[in-house]
Amino acid sequence: MEILRTVEDMQRFADRVRQRGRTIGFVPTMGYLHEGHVSLVHIARRHADVVVVSIFVNPTQFGPGEDFESYPRDFERDRRMVAAAGADCLYCPDADEMYPPGYQTTVCVREVTRNLCGLSRPAHFEGVATVVAKLFNAVKPQYAVFGQKDFQQLVVIKRMVRDLNMDIDIIGAPIVREPDGIAMSSRNKYLGTAERQAARCLSRALDAVRSRADEGERSAQALISLARGIISAEPLGRIDYVKVCDAVTLQDVERLEREAVMAVAVFFEKARLIDNTILHVDGPQP
Ligand code: PAF
Repeated sequence: MEILRTVEDMQRFADRVRQRGRTIGFVPTMGYLHEGHVSLVHIARRHADVVVVSIFVNPTQFGPGEDFESYPRDFERDRRMVAAAGADCLYCPDADEMYPPGYQTTVCVREVTRNLCGLSRPAHFEGVATVVAKLFNAVKPQYAVFGQKDFQQLVVIKRMVRDLNMDIDIIGAPIVREPDGIAMSSRNKYLGTAERQAARCLSRALDAVRSRADEGERSAQALISLARGIISAEPLGRIDYVKVCDAVTLQDVERLEREAVMAVAVFFEKARLIDNTILHVDGPQP
């Protein structure tokens, strides 16, 4: 597996791959990898000849007082995991390479960033869209894979790619869960034993909501009350939001009339966890 650290080296690698008529599948990450990331690498491998994984803890997507400094990092472990997952190239630029002095251009995706995490993390998605656009320009992929756990991020990236005519297929990958239902996340590391137990309320609430919707409940308010009841029963968590939104526009909906998403964010002492489930209106999905 090649390890590349500069934009120039990454672009040369990508040009060589493309000149040979081969395709590139890309998995952008912030490292501290888990089985969810490994599943993204496997999905990229199914679509493309050559798989590139990036690791970059992007400072511009963290707000003041958020966990940029303490975000977990373990390069050696990540390198081994990326190699074992079968990637061909690991791209790990540093902050000066990504944002050299004088850097002043950003990507702002307007409407789909306003709701959900955009309410409590106002600059987050501008940081995400900007860094992903820059990574795309370095890696030059035909395919890029993003987990559906960060559902809003996936919608934002799809919107950016469409709006800026980027010739890249964005693939959404299913959420990978721990055996107890908790969605895999690098931030789960922040949870103490009791919080870890309490954090199961997110997936429990989403399961209950999905069953109720499958039984025919169409009122967003009824589904939100159900989820809020389950999450608030856990004293260690504090709800940031529980919302039902249109799956494309991410605007709040009052009734389930087409595909929607229930998205939740809950603060624990050192971690803010997010999770979601798609709500189909045509009845239960496999
Ligand atoms: O989902 C992440 O890990 C990050 O937001 C991403 C897409 C790598 C951009 O920094």
